[in-house]
Amino acid sequence: MKEQLMAIQEEALEAIKSVEDQKTLQEVKVGFLGKKGSLTAVLRGMGKLSPEERPVVGELANQVRAAITEALEEKSAQLEQEALNQKLEAETIDVTLPGRPVEMGGKHLLTRIIEDIEDLFIGMGFEVREGPEVETDYFNFEALNLPKNHPARDMQDTFYITNELLLRTHTSPVQARTMREYKGEKPVKMICPGKVYRRDTDDATHSHQFTQIEGLYVDRNVRMSDLKGVLDTFAKSMFGEDRQIRLRPSFFPFTEPSVEMDISCKMCGGEGCSVCKQSGWIEILGAGMVHPKVLEMAGYDPAIYSGFAFGMGPDRIAMLKYGISDIRHFYTNDKRFLTQYHQA
Ligand code: PHE
Repeated sequence: MKEQLMAIQEEALEAIKSVEDQKTLQEVKVGFLGKKGSLTAVLRGMGKLSPEERPVVGELANQVRAAITEALEEKSAQLEQEALNQKLEAETIDVTLPGRPVEMGGKHLLTRIIEDIEDLFIGMGFEVREGPEVETDYFNFEALNLPKNHPARDMQDTFYITNELLLRTHTSPVQARTMREYKGEKPVKMICPGKVYRRDTDDATHSHQFTQIEGLYVDRNVRMSDLKGVLDTFAKSMFGEDRQIRLRPSFFPFTEPSVEMDISCKMCGGEGCSVCKQSGWIEILGAGMVHPKVLEMAGYDPAIYSGFAFGMGPDRIAMLKYGISDIRHFYTNDKRFLTQYHQA
């Protein structure tokens, strides 16, 4: 019987060694240790042994069972580890592979300039308004003291849609609309950025579509000195504290008096150079005191209310600020151009 037990142990350990998966291992376990297993069968025969032999064989049988169980457990753990290793290997991620580049978008330079200007004017108490790009002849011209057949209409060559509808040529109709909305009762302090359209032939300095920002302040006792102060603050914030401004007399039908504002040339510091055409000054925007007729048409009594207005072109401001020589760059969407200004 001892030999039988030793043979079973040997056979079992041999069988376990060659097992390659958990299922077969389980079968081997049942084959030896199960109810109908070979070790169990031998142990059943123990009854026939003499009382002296029984404890000896019993102890040996326990040792054999322990040895087989240990071998089974070891094998099981080994198989588990192997399975895990295989899985890890199959699922390996090569963290050293370079990633696929993700292209970052960014704001268009004009959007950034407009947002900077908005921030500045919001800080001075202006609200930001919008108006339609398809505008009526009335708001684009008539309400701004430009009746039909007024010669100054030629200053802004217009895309007409019908006799009464057009693509706005400037953002000034938004001042007329806002004043009308406020019914001649409330003060108005607004800026309005937006796209405008003119029948120009596109070249380095002209585009049939460009941007403007209109500003309007109407209240009691608004004076030209207020306009000058606001414009000076704007110029210094946009172009640098060391910049000077000057106002030159000009003409717009909707302002009286009208001015154009220049800033001192940064390139030459006022000495005269090619950027400022030897004048030492660069023209930036048009402005003036709101014409009494414009106030009146919008329902504001010019005897009580006065106001100033200005209009500027973010395209031109961006070109001056960054030395961009062609306005078409803003609208032709060449990424090589646009991405240069994402972080600037
Ligand atoms: N609307 C004028 C233009 O487009 C600019 C401007 C606005 C001038 C407001 C004076 C006051 O040329």
